Amino acid sequence: MISFFLFLPIQILAFTYEQQQQLISDEVDFYLDYNSGNIFDYAFTEMIGQGAFSEVYLGYRVEDQEPVVLKHIKGSKERVVNREIQILKALQGLPNIVQIIDAIKGDEEESDDFFDFGVVDNQNQETPQMEIKKQSHKEGHIEATIIFAYQNTTRCLDDIRKYGNYSLKQVKNYFKQIFTALNKAHELHIMHRDIKGSNVLVDDNDNIILIDWGLSQFYDDGTHQSTKMGTRYYKAPELLLKYKQYDYSIDIWAVGCMLADFIFKTHPLLPGKDNEDQLKKIISMLGTNDLYEYLNKYQIELDLDEIPQVQNRVDFTKLVNIKNQNLVSKEGIDLLEKIFIYDHKLRINASQALEHAFFL
Ligand SMILES: Nc1ncnc2c1ncn2[C@@H]1O[C@H](COP(=O)(O)OP(=O)(O)OP(=O)(O)O)[C@@H](O)[C@H]1O
Ligand SMILES: *[C@@H]1O[C@H](CO)[C@@H](O)[C@H](O)[C@H]1NC(C)=O
Ligand SMILES: *[C@@H]1O[C@H](CO)[C@@H](O)[C@H](O)[C@H]1NC(C)=O
Ligand SMILES: *[C@@H]1O[C@H](CO)[C@@H](O)[C@H](O)[C@H]1NC(C)=O
Repeated sequence: MISFFLFLPIQILAFTYEQQQQLISDEVDFYLDYNSGNIFDYAFTEMIGQGAFSEVYLGYRVEDQEPVVLKHIKGSKERVVNREIQILKALQGLPNIVQIIDAIKGDEEESDDFFDFGVVDNQNQETPQMEIKKQSHKEGHIEATIIFAYQNTTRCLDDIRKYGNYSLKQVKNYFKQIFTALNKAHELHIMHRDIKGSNVLVDDNDNIILIDWGLSQFYDDGTHQSTKMGTRYYKAPELLLKYKQYDYSIDIWAVGCMLADFIFKTHPLLPGKDNEDQLKKIISMLGTNDLYEYLNKYQIELDLDEIPQVQNRVDFTKLVNIKNQNLVSKEGIDLLEKIFIYDHKLRINASQALEHAFFL
């Protein structure tokens, strides 16, 4: 009956090729190594976030009062939960990345006792929690709680951008840390796939960590992946063109969108109203000349009702104005130009970006 499991020890080693294949395939079940553990080793204090499939709580480890974050997944495909946990384990000990402490797969009754969800609102209507609750009854869906080391901050990168009082030095510091995190993840063949300001936490000392690896996936040359990934404003052209053999460079594109917002004080840089419009905004920025070359190279079909009549790419120096001139530098523009390239194989990668003059 009691089916909470805790896995130890956590390995820091990268995956073998076979393990990656297993995780990419739909057949992965129990390659995870769980020992018996207990959700009651932890206590929660308050809810700090709610997503479509999970609720996030602040809490602590009972044994030593160590503050933790508990991400309670209320019914998600077992394969997807396993993937998130395995990826978080692979990322253990790496800089600027949220650290997993524990993962507990649980049975519903016991976790209900623990979290004590209020599931009905005053009007006696279904609440989002209720929706979430039901999903765990679905075939192949499970509940799990992932325990993270607590990052003592309430700020994310979006908050800092919104205040607008940052310096170029700070921008360099933030993005160096983001590229550092991505370089390590990409080296382990992991794509984050949902890079955006709200997934970058910033503490009082300007240390950043990348969170929310729930959409992340292993890259495998030749494998087709879903292109319904990421958040619209940050979507790379290959995703919008439904090219399924994309790679780590989708993360780099998303970082470029954030960096441009910081440097030019735009937000969003490319404000698409829907996915089609997002692609049009990209074409308006990068032009059609390079677009057709790109489509030809990868045999991609373009399915748009109207193609923006812009041949050449935008000259980024034209975006300089009185409000952002203290943030724009030759090196910053050069880095953005190396990120904003249709051809994902030619886009600068994380380790190259760290060597770029912008950070020197
Ligand atoms: N390690 C951490 N330390 C402090 N706060 C955290 C930590 N991890 C997550 N949070 C907070 O909890 C929120 C939700 O976390 P996360 O994005 O991982 O969960 P999620 O359910 O996938 O969220 P979303 O649906 O918004 O993507 C974050 O926006 C952040 O404010
Ligand atoms: C977080 O930081 C604040 C201010 O630095 C401090 O007062 C608080 O105790 C910290 N919280 C935790 C859980 O460490
Ligand atoms: C920016 O403004 C916010 C809100 O007023 C403030 O808390 C923060 O200290 C400021 N940061 C800098 C670098 O001045
Ligand atoms: C980036 O590209 C360089 C040069 O092609 C390569 O050696 C390196 O492994 C790549 N790094 C990442 C993180 O993809």
